[in-house]
Amino acid sequence: MSVHSEIKRVTTHILQEMKNRGEKISCLTAYDFSMGRIVDAAGVDLILVGDSASNVMAGHETTLPITLDQMIYHASSVVKAVKRALVVVDIPFGSYQGDSTEALRSAIRIMKESGAHAVKMEGGSEIKESVVRVLSAGIPVMGHLGLTPQSIYKFGTYSVRAKEDVEAQKLIEDALMLQECGAFGLVLEKIPSTLTKKVSESLKIPTVGIGAGPDADGQILVVHDMLGINKEFKPRFLRRYADLDSIMHDAIANYVKDVKGKDFPNEKESY
Ligand code: KIV
Repeated sequence: MSVHSEIKRVTTHILQEMKNRGEKISCLTAYDFSMGRIVDAAGVDLILVGDSASNVMAGHETTLPITLDQMIYHASSVVKAVKRALVVVDIPFGSYQGDSTEALRSAIRIMKESGAHAVKMEGGSEIKESVVRVLSAGIPVMGHLGLTPQSIYKFGTYSVRAKEDVEAQKLIEDALMLQECGAFGLVLEKIPSTLTKKVSESLKIPTVGIGAGPDADGQILVVHDMLGINKEFKPRFLRRYADLDSIMHDAIANYVKDVKGKDFPNEKESY
């Protein structure tokens, strides 16, 4: 039976119920219509239109260059394909950190122009005003703490965050602050498992981990990484579920061979 034959849309409340009953939340990224359709039909609960589109789709080294217009383009393509999952969209770098009015304007554009269900913002106390302002407009907000790629030039490396007590303590305080403000969930990226456990047990709202160990309330991966489309990226936390790079390479090489050998198209494939 297809997941879509009895579609009940995933909402932020349903994610909360999943945490309450101990059901893990499955999350993946998607950036276009075709991938959004496949990811949704396979039963993923939350689809993130991540600003990792900057790396994966546009080939940039970091997530910083992607624009609000580009995020809206990706998000509206995904939304059209999704029948069940909650679609969350990253507000990109430079569209919310400056002041809360700009944050609200960016979040409203994402919601209005893409049809997405929620936005995600990176950071803690530094962006509190923006988080509160966006929430005040009735837009669900997901937080993101730990390794926050929009701050990569501040960190200087993509290594594990919050190993030291001071940073871990700030992360716990930021997590509680985001919950207090009304965030519906929280991404925890690349932090020690023990800290993820502590944060997830302290919060009522669900946490979603990436490189954060087994104790988050859900897990997220970048879909191109877990499908093996992007083979160069091999962090320890990544489990590869397919080798699509090789499958696609071989299929395309076979096509080239058939065209060159005048084997494609044959009579049946012609009018
Ligand atoms: O942009 C993204 O894909 C993300 C996930 C890695 C959580 O923020």
